[in-house]
Amino acid sequence: MRAVVASRPGAPEVLAVTRRAVPQPAAGEALVRVVAAGVNRADLMQRAGTYPGAAADPILGLEVSGVVVATGADVSEGLIGREACALLPGGGYAEYVAVRAAHLAPVPAAVSLRDAAGLMEAAATVWSNLYMPSPPEPGSWMLVHGGASGIGSLAVQFAVAHGVRVATTVGSPEKGLFVEKLGAELVIDHRRQDFADELLERGIRPATVLDIIGADYLERNLQVLGRGGRLVIIGHQSGASTQIDLSRLLLGNLTVTGSGLRMRPDHEKDRIIDDLVRHIWPLYERGEIVPTTHAALPFEQAAEAHQLLEQSHHRGKVLLLADPDLPPTPDRQP
Ligand SMILES: NC(=O)c1ccc[n+]([C@@H]2O[C@H](COP(=O)([O-])OP(=O)(O)OC[C@H]3O[C@@H](n4cnc5c(N)ncnc54)[C@H](OP(=O)(O)O)[C@@H]3O)[C@@H](O)[C@H]2O)c1
Repeated sequence: MRAVVASRPGAPEVLAVTRRAVPQPAAGEALVRVVAAGVNRADLMQRAGTYPGAAADPILGLEVSGVVVATGADVSEGLIGREACALLPGGGYAEYVAVRAAHLAPVPAAVSLRDAAGLMEAAATVWSNLYMPSPPEPGSWMLVHGGASGIGSLAVQFAVAHGVRVATTVGSPEKGLFVEKLGAELVIDHRRQDFADELLERGIRPATVLDIIGADYLERNLQVLGRGGRLVIIGHQSGASTQIDLSRLLLGNLTVTGSGLRMRPDHEKDRIIDDLVRHIWPLYERGEIVPTTHAALPFEQAAEAHQLLEQSHHRGKVLLLADPDLPPTPDRQP
């Protein structure tokens, strides 16, 4: 089969299409013929050699969509022929991938098989970090940093669908228009405005903050949170170490938490996937939230796909297409 690997740690150009043996599904697994794979920021870090604890699998890719073509022991053969999307520890940028069967999900009606490749990582991250163990209150404010990102574009839509009011940061006016269409009420251009000033001037004290920036934003995230508020850190693009004034936690009765989806044990991911199929998939099926595919490029253009994310020229999700005959679709917007 064809698969995309990083020939060595480095810039996007180290990505190359190579030939690998088709994996065999082990007990509890299904083999998926891949239609498309989602590109995530973690893939960029793995390619560059900076992702801590990345799986040994040199084939990148944390999520795919496709068709089940074989099953291992203990998995129903009834799955064969089903269209599905899947969450993976790695191995998604390939024509075939063996998947833990419990980490498959159906493709929601109203979502194309191709676009389904970009659902699982964002949905599982948003659900597990913001809605477990309990969801934010409808009517409360949520601050979503990077609302035009793959994760942010779902976080914004899902919060709005739950009656939560969304403020979000973006890096350009074009991205601002994009997140407004997704339902964000307050859009802050982080290149021109200070998000804490903008929120505090309006008297907005979010009950929840979803952060992907880390060190540079920590103090201001704590400053804006309302009493009893919750800061959820899922990325630290500006750095992982900083100092904070701990008295803010005591005075505001604040909670600071975070998690990494990839390193969660399988049984936790099983439950998260069950939950998102029950709680998020119906919203896709009713058209209340939509996939945000920005571009879908063939495996041969994996380096361009990584450059799009690296230069932050995308809005929503970037996909890679396993089938070279599927036409590339640059700059498609929801
Ligand atoms: N913990 C987990 O389980 C988990 C799982 C998945 C993803 N993540 C993390 O979630 C983040 C998003 O992932 P993704 O795959 O969706 O990546 P992505 O689409 O490449 O998003 C990265 C975003 O960061 C934004 N950004 C950069 N500097 C910013 C700043 N100073 N303020 C606000 N936003 C800023 C960019 O927006 P602009 O261009 O508009 O600035 C861009 O939209 C990454 O940090 C990733 O590591 C964590």
